[in-house]
Amino acid sequence: MAELGIGIIGLGRFSRVIAQALSDTAGLRLVAAADVSAEQRAAFASEFPPLKVYEKIDALVADPAVDVIIVAAPPYLHAELGRKVLAGGKHLFLEKPGALEPQDLAELARFAKAHGLRTGIDFVMRRNPLYFLLHTFAEKGLFGLPERAYLENYAHDDHLLPGHWFWDREKSGGIWIEHGVHFLDIANWLLGPAEWAWASDFVRPEQNLVERVVGTVRHKNGCPVSYYHGFTKPEPFEHTVFNLVWERAYAALDGWIPVRLTLDALVTPEIEDYLTGKILAETRDWLPDIGVKIEECTVELLGRGEVMLRGRGNTFKVTARLKISYALEADRWTVYRASVRRGLLELAAAVGNPARHQAVTLSDAEAALQVAAALTESAASGRPVLFT
Ligand SMILES: NC(=O)c1ccc[n+]([C@@H]2O[C@H](COP(=O)([O-])OP(=O)(O)OC[C@H]3O[C@@H](n4cnc5c(N)ncnc54)[C@H](O)[C@@H]3O)[C@@H](O)[C@H]2O)c1
Repeated sequence: MAELGIGIIGLGRFSRVIAQALSDTAGLRLVAAADVSAEQRAAFASEFPPLKVYEKIDALVADPAVDVIIVAAPPYLHAELGRKVLAGGKHLFLEKPGALEPQDLAELARFAKAHGLRTGIDFVMRRNPLYFLLHTFAEKGLFGLPERAYLENYAHDDHLLPGHWFWDREKSGGIWIEHGVHFLDIANWLLGPAEWAWASDFVRPEQNLVERVVGTVRHKNGCPVSYYHGFTKPEPFEHTVFNLVWERAYAALDGWIPVRLTLDALVTPEIEDYLTGKILAETRDWLPDIGVKIEECTVELLGRGEVMLRGRGNTFKVTARLKISYALEADRWTVYRASVRRGLLELAAAVGNPARHQAVTLSDAEAALQVAAALTESAASGRPVLFT
């Protein structure tokens, strides 16, 4: 793969994570950047030399050394900047949400396809091997029907002072669109499309800003998923758990960028062998350089050989209750950077080979944004929103 020159638009907090992810990545070189703020340009250039920094987006887009442009400006600018990038003939990697309106993502994807350009979206959780494990359990139907999922996300807001674009719905889209899309995309991936969505907002009265949201999405496969996002905590005290329950298993992921997955499941000997062996080899390729190990494993035999158990009116044969915890062999910041890098390398591979499959696409971003927009609309109207 020939080396690609990378440019970044928007040199704020997250641009640092992206730039660190790019450093020493074979095949990708950060060559240029742009921001409207002189202060941000100066700070970024001093942290990541050698690099050209532009005030004008058009100058960055016209730079012949730049092949791929990452848009990391605030969300209300994503679609407009994305259009400029593609119109200038550059490949596009969007930070989430990628747009405030789903149709903008569809339009960007169409334009890129018509002009032989590649696109990508930075859904970092999709790159995480522990979410890949959940996907494998779901895809193989190891534990029967998915019954229920729920997210508890007590996020930090210590960097989000009043007046930050995050609190301004016109600029961020609100919590569901700015942040919720990560988890809505995961739910679409694990459970398939949504049937209806309902949500409610909670305002911090002193500052008149929406700081907490709660909502439920029913997926067409019959699985209800509940979400809570609260931007209320100091960073060292934030706490996120995502739980997925099947007929015969409980799975829990710990952390916003999870590094541990615990599973409590009723199993047959074949499933036990798979979960304690082959699945690890299959998962290792998902996020190169980040190992996955079994941290703890206990097997409680339920009888001598197979036993018959009943649940939901069904009878099934199992032999044991397996409690297993999988852990990533890296800290969460290393996993975070590796996840961003994986998305960029996937885009780079598609630039070199247009037939190349991309695991995460703008069409996924559009689907997640549709659900986020429905939740936002439901909170405003007080009524559930149905999907056709
Ligand atoms: N994928 C992830 O895990 C993840 C994590 C955090 C943030 N993000 C996303 O990254 C994006 C940026 O977030 P952030 O926290 O870095 O925000 P930020 O406010 O810290 O940085 C945004 C930067 O964009 C610049 N900017 C504003 N208008 C511009 C314009 N017209 N042209 C060029 N630059 C402009 C600002 O000057 C600022 O430097 C958001 O979309 C956010 O949702 C993604």
